[in-house]
Amino acid sequence: MFKNAKLAKLLAIQAKLRYFRHLKNFTMSAILALAGSNSSTSINFKLVQYTAGLIGDKEVQLLNMANYPFPLYSEDNEREMGFSNSLVELRDDIMKAKGVIISLNEHNSNPSAYFKNVLDWLSRLEIKFLEDTEVLLMSTSPGKRGGLGSLEIIEKLLPRFGANVGASFSLPSFYENFDSEKGITDSALAETHQRVLTEFLSKI
Ligand SMILES: Cc1cc2nc3c(=O)[nH]c(=O)nc-3n(C[C@H](O)[C@H](O)[C@H](O)COP(=O)(O)O)c2cc1C
Repeated sequence: MFKNAKLAKLLAIQAKLRYFRHLKNFTMSAILALAGSNSSTSINFKLVQYTAGLIGDKEVQLLNMANYPFPLYSEDNEREMGFSNSLVELRDDIMKAKGVIISLNEHNSNPSAYFKNVLDWLSRLEIKFLEDTEVLLMSTSPGKRGGLGSLEIIEKLLPRFGANVGASFSLPSFYENFDSEKGITDSALAETHQRVLTEFLSKI
Protein backbone atom coordinates (compact mmCIF):
# COMPACT_ATOMS: atom_id res chain seq x y z
CA MET A 1 0.00 0.00 0.00
CA PHE A 2 2.74 2.40 1.13
CA LYS A 3 4.91 1.38 -1.84
CA ASN A 4 2.03 2.00 -4.27
CA ALA A 5 1.34 5.44 -2.84
CA LYS A 6 5.04 6.33 -3.15
CA LEU A 7 5.14 5.07 -6.72
CA ALA A 8 2.00 7.03 -7.62
CA LYS A 9 3.56 10.18 -6.16
CA LEU A 10 6.77 9.63 -8.12
CA LEU A 11 4.85 9.07 -11.35
CA ALA A 12 2.81 12.23 -10.73
CA ILE A 13 5.98 14.26 -10.21
CA GLN A 14 7.52 12.79 -13.37
CA ALA A 15 4.39 13.63 -15.34
CA LYS A 16 4.45 17.20 -14.01
CA LEU A 17 8.12 17.56 -14.92
CA ARG A 18 7.41 16.25 -18.45
CA TYR A 19 4.61 18.79 -18.75
CA PHE A 20 6.73 21.72 -17.60
CA ARG A 21 9.61 20.63 -19.84
CA HIS A 22 7.15 20.58 -22.70
CA LEU A 23 5.98 24.10 -21.80
CA LYS A 24 9.59 25.30 -21.51
CA ASN A 25 10.33 24.02 -25.00
CA PHE A 26 7.52 26.13 -26.47
CA THR A 27 8.34 27.87 -29.67
CA MET A 28 5.56 30.26 -30.56
CA SER A 29 3.70 28.66 -33.42
CA ALA A 30 1.90 31.27 -35.49
CA ILE A 31 -0.74 29.05 -37.05
CA LEU A 32 -2.11 25.64 -36.22
CA ALA A 33 -4.02 23.87 -39.01
CA LEU A 34 -6.22 20.81 -38.61
CA ALA A 35 -9.34 19.10 -39.89
CA GLY A 36 -12.33 18.13 -37.80
CA SER A 37 -12.08 14.63 -39.20
CA ASN A 38 -10.22 11.57 -37.89
CA SER A 39 -10.36 9.85 -41.27
CA SER A 40 -6.97 8.82 -42.69
CA THR A 41 -8.27 9.85 -46.15
CA SER A 42 -9.97 13.06 -44.98
CA ILE A 43 -10.86 15.49 -47.77
CA ASN A 44 -10.99 18.24 -45.14
CA PHE A 45 -7.39 17.49 -44.23
CA LYS A 46 -6.53 17.78 -47.95
CA LEU A 47 -8.15 21.22 -48.01
CA VAL A 48 -6.21 22.19 -44.86
CA GLN A 49 -2.90 20.99 -46.38
CA TYR A 50 -3.58 22.96 -49.55
CA THR A 51 -4.48 26.08 -47.53
CA ALA A 52 -1.36 25.75 -45.37
CA GLY A 53 0.72 25.48 -48.56
CA LEU A 54 -0.49 28.92 -49.65
CA ILE A 55 0.88 30.57 -46.51
CA GLY A 56 4.39 31.71 -47.30
CA ASP A 57 5.54 34.01 -44.54
CA LYS A 58 4.27 32.42 -41.33
CA GLU A 59 5.05 29.23 -39.49
CA VAL A 60 2.25 26.67 -39.86
CA GLN A 61 1.92 23.53 -37.77
CA LEU A 62 -0.21 20.87 -39.47
CA LEU A 63 -2.02 18.36 -37.28
CA ASN A 64 -3.42 15.16 -38.73
CA MET A 65 -6.28 14.26 -36.40
CA ALA A 66 -6.20 10.64 -37.59
CA ASN A 67 -3.29 10.46 -35.14
CA TYR A 68 -5.43 11.76 -32.27
CA PRO A 69 -7.88 9.06 -31.24
CA PHE A 70 -9.81 10.03 -28.10
CA PRO A 71 -12.23 7.88 -26.12
CA LEU A 72 -15.82 9.03 -26.12
CA TYR A 73 -16.21 11.70 -23.47
CA SER A 74 -18.17 10.78 -20.37
CA GLU A 75 -17.87 12.07 -16.83
CA ASP A 76 -17.06 8.52 -15.77
CA ASN A 77 -14.23 8.34 -18.30
CA GLU A 78 -12.89 11.68 -17.12
CA ARG A 79 -12.96 10.55 -13.48
CA GLU A 80 -11.43 7.16 -14.18
CA MET A 81 -8.93 7.93 -16.94
CA GLY A 82 -8.23 11.64 -16.50
CA PHE A 83 -6.87 13.69 -19.40
CA SER A 84 -4.63 11.90 -21.88
CA ASN A 85 -1.18 13.24 -22.78
CA SER A 86 -2.30 13.77 -26.37
CA LEU A 87 -5.24 15.90 -25.20
CA VAL A 88 -2.91 18.05 -23.09
CA GLU A 89 -0.53 18.38 -26.05
CA LEU A 90 -3.40 19.35 -28.34
CA ARG A 91 -4.58 21.96 -25.81
CA ASP A 92 -1.03 23.36 -25.57
CA ASP A 93 -0.60 23.45 -29.35
CA ILE A 94 -3.89 25.33 -29.69
CA MET A 95 -3.10 27.74 -26.88
CA LYS A 96 0.31 28.69 -28.19
CA ALA A 97 -1.00 29.42 -31.70
CA LYS A 98 -2.05 32.92 -32.69
CA GLY A 99 -4.40 31.59 -35.33
CA VAL A 100 -6.09 28.27 -35.97
CA ILE A 101 -7.36 26.92 -39.29
CA ILE A 102 -10.00 24.20 -39.00
CA SER A 103 -11.77 22.45 -41.85
CA LEU A 104 -14.90 20.64 -40.73
CA ASN A 105 -16.43 17.48 -42.02
CA GLU A 106 -20.19 16.99 -41.91
CA HIS A 107 -22.14 13.96 -40.72
CA ASN A 108 -25.91 14.10 -41.08
CA SER A 109 -25.91 17.90 -41.38
CA ASN A 110 -23.92 18.24 -38.16
CA PRO A 111 -20.29 18.35 -37.09
CA SER A 112 -18.87 14.85 -36.82
CA ALA A 113 -19.14 13.10 -33.46
CA TYR A 114 -15.33 12.95 -33.53
CA PHE A 115 -14.93 16.73 -33.62
CA LYS A 116 -17.67 17.37 -31.03
CA ASN A 117 -15.94 14.85 -28.78
CA VAL A 118 -12.61 16.68 -29.18
CA LEU A 119 -14.31 19.95 -28.21
CA ASP A 120 -15.95 18.33 -25.18
CA TRP A 121 -12.64 16.95 -23.91
CA LEU A 122 -10.80 20.24 -24.53
CA SER A 123 -13.51 22.24 -22.76
CA ARG A 124 -13.08 20.10 -19.64
CA LEU A 125 -9.35 20.74 -19.62
CA GLU A 126 -9.59 24.49 -20.27
CA ILE A 127 -12.87 26.16 -21.15
CA LYS A 128 -11.13 29.15 -22.81
CA PHE A 129 -8.77 27.04 -24.89
CA LEU A 130 -9.27 29.40 -27.86
CA GLU A 131 -8.97 32.67 -25.90
CA ASP A 132 -7.64 35.51 -28.10
CA THR A 133 -7.28 33.13 -31.03
CA GLU A 134 -8.22 34.07 -34.56
CA VAL A 135 -9.98 31.16 -36.28
CA LEU A 136 -10.40 30.51 -39.98
CA LEU A 137 -13.22 28.00 -40.34
CA MET A 138 -13.59 25.96 -43.50
CA SER A 139 -15.58 22.93 -44.52
CA THR A 140 -15.92 20.65 -47.49
CA SER A 141 -17.89 17.59 -48.53
CA PRO A 142 -18.76 15.78 -51.76
CA GLY A 143 -22.19 17.43 -51.57
CA LYS A 144 -23.35 20.77 -53.00
CA ARG A 145 -23.47 22.50 -49.59
CA GLY A 146 -19.86 21.54 -48.83
CA GLY A 147 -20.52 20.84 -45.16
CA LEU A 148 -21.99 24.28 -44.56
CA GLY A 149 -24.43 22.92 -41.93
CA SER A 150 -21.51 21.69 -39.83
CA LEU A 151 -19.61 24.95 -40.32
CA GLU A 152 -22.55 27.11 -39.21
CA ILE A 153 -22.98 25.12 -35.99
CA ILE A 154 -19.30 25.29 -35.06
CA GLU A 155 -19.13 28.98 -36.02
CA LYS A 156 -21.72 29.68 -33.31
CA LEU A 157 -20.09 27.36 -30.78
CA LEU A 158 -16.42 28.42 -30.88
CA PRO A 159 -16.82 31.92 -29.33
CA ARG A 160 -17.87 30.08 -26.14
CA PHE A 161 -14.26 28.88 -25.93
CA GLY A 162 -12.89 32.39 -26.53
CA ALA A 163 -12.38 32.17 -30.31
CA ASN A 164 -12.72 35.02 -32.73
CA VAL A 165 -14.16 33.46 -35.88
CA GLY A 166 -13.53 36.20 -38.39
CA ALA A 167 -13.55 34.34 -41.67
CA SER A 168 -15.10 31.23 -43.12
CA PHE A 169 -15.08 29.32 -46.39
CA SER A 170 -17.00 26.31 -47.61
CA LEU A 171 -15.91 24.27 -50.63
CA PRO A 172 -18.88 22.52 -52.28
CA SER A 173 -18.67 19.33 -54.37
CA PHE A 174 -15.09 18.55 -53.33
CA TYR A 175 -14.42 15.98 -56.05
CA GLU A 176 -15.48 18.39 -58.81
CA ASN A 177 -13.70 21.45 -57.41
CA PHE A 178 -10.46 20.10 -56.00
CA ASP A 179 -7.44 18.53 -57.63
CA SER A 180 -4.71 16.96 -55.51
CA GLU A 181 -2.01 18.79 -57.48
CA LYS A 182 -3.72 22.03 -58.48
CA GLY A 183 -5.86 22.57 -55.39
CA ILE A 184 -9.16 24.43 -55.87
CA THR A 185 -9.87 24.31 -59.60
CA ASP A 186 -12.97 26.53 -59.83
CA SER A 187 -11.57 30.05 -60.28
CA ALA A 188 -14.37 31.89 -58.41
CA LEU A 189 -14.07 29.52 -55.44
CA ALA A 190 -10.27 29.75 -55.49
CA GLU A 191 -10.54 33.55 -55.43
CA THR A 192 -12.94 33.54 -52.48
CA HIS A 193 -10.72 31.07 -50.63
CA GLN A 194 -7.65 33.27 -51.19
CA ARG A 195 -9.53 36.41 -50.07
CA VAL A 196 -10.74 34.77 -46.88
CA LEU A 197 -7.25 33.40 -46.16
CA THR A 198 -5.66 36.83 -46.71
CA GLU A 199 -8.20 38.40 -44.36
CA PHE A 200 -7.41 35.77 -41.71
CA LEU A 201 -3.64 36.23 -42.10
CA SER A 202 -3.94 40.02 -41.78
CA LYS A 203 -5.23 39.54 -38.23
CA ILE A 204 -2.35 37.36 -37.05
C1 LIG B 1 -22.23 9.01 -41.28
C2 LIG B 1 -22.01 9.97 -42.42
C3 LIG B 1 -22.89 11.01 -42.60
C4 LIG B 1 -22.66 11.93 -43.63
N1 LIG B 1 -23.50 13.00 -43.74
C5 LIG B 1 -23.20 13.96 -44.64
C6 LIG B 1 -23.99 15.16 -44.69
O1 LIG B 1 -24.90 15.39 -43.92
N2 LIG B 1 -23.66 16.10 -45.60
C7 LIG B 1 -22.59 15.93 -46.46
O2 LIG B 1 -22.34 16.82 -47.26
N3 LIG B 1 -21.85 14.79 -46.44
C8 LIG B 1 -22.13 13.82 -45.55
N4 LIG B 1 -21.37 12.68 -45.50
C9 LIG B 1 -20.28 12.49 -46.48
C10 LIG B 1 -19.00 13.18 -45.95
O3 LIG B 1 -19.08 14.54 -46.29
C11 LIG B 1 -17.80 12.52 -46.62
O4 LIG B 1 -17.65 11.23 -46.07
C12 LIG B 1 -16.53 13.32 -46.40
O5 LIG B 1 -15.44 12.64 -47.00
C13 LIG B 1 -16.23 13.58 -44.93
O6 LIG B 1 -15.15 14.43 -44.78
P1 LIG B 1 -13.71 13.88 -44.35
O7 LIG B 1 -13.22 13.01 -45.50
O8 LIG B 1 -12.88 15.09 -44.15
O9 LIG B 1 -13.91 13.06 -43.11
C14 LIG B 1 -21.57 11.76 -44.50
C15 LIG B 1 -20.71 10.66 -44.31
C16 LIG B 1 -20.91 9.79 -43.29
C17 LIG B 1 -19.95 8.64 -43.08
